[in-house]
Amino acid sequence: MGCAHAQTNAGLRATLLNKGAILLGCGKSYACIVFRTKSSPQTRGMTMNKTISILLLTLIATSALAATGEETYNTTCANCHAKGLAGAPQTGDKKAWGKLIKEGQVELTADGYGGVRAMPAKGGRAELTVAEFAGAVVFMANKAGANWQEADDTMLKKINARIEKRAQAKK
Ligand code: HEC
Repeated sequence: MGCAHAQTNAGLRATLLNKGAILLGCGKSYACIVFRTKSSPQTRGMTMNKTISILLLTLIATSALAATGEETYNTTCANCHAKGLAGAPQTGDKKAWGKLIKEGQVELTADGYGGVRAMPAKGGRAELTVAEFAGAVVFMANKAGANWQEADDTMLKKINARIEKRAQAKK
């Protein structure tokens, strides 16, 4: 089964397939959750049931979203940051991260994404989006005592603007 979605205002994508399966994906995650509801005509006819399912699925998808930063961290950043390889600020090292956290979420995320000395751009994974990278930065900053929130659209715009500015300056 493919993963075709119709985007809703909530930023969540839900598609009601004709066989009664509900496909749900999240903007920031590649994860695609597939749920099957009973395909009997009675079930499909009950709008209320569908509404409840979608509400429930939205909750599930929201909690799946929260894991994204940690997932990106585990698959990509932990390679260096878990042990402090090559001078990387070690995860949970409050002293090393304290200075970085003070730079601010927009600055730190944008600079890290573009690469800093031995820190490869995008953590060395070319396909990593800014949102995914930002999530991993939040995860590491919070491990060192920050209380950062997942970057919202407004913040992502600022991060992107700074990434663009840095890229221009390097040329
Ligand atoms: C190949 C090793 C490596 C990987 C993989 C890696 N980092 Fe780093 N990272 C470093 C090193 C080394 C530094 C320290 C750079 C310096 O200051 O010289 C660093 C620094 C940083 C900084 C601080 C940047 C600054 O402004 O000083 C951030 C933020 C960061 N990394 C985030 C991440 C995230 C998020 C990931 C995963 C998506 C990641 N890193 C993956 C090696 C790595």
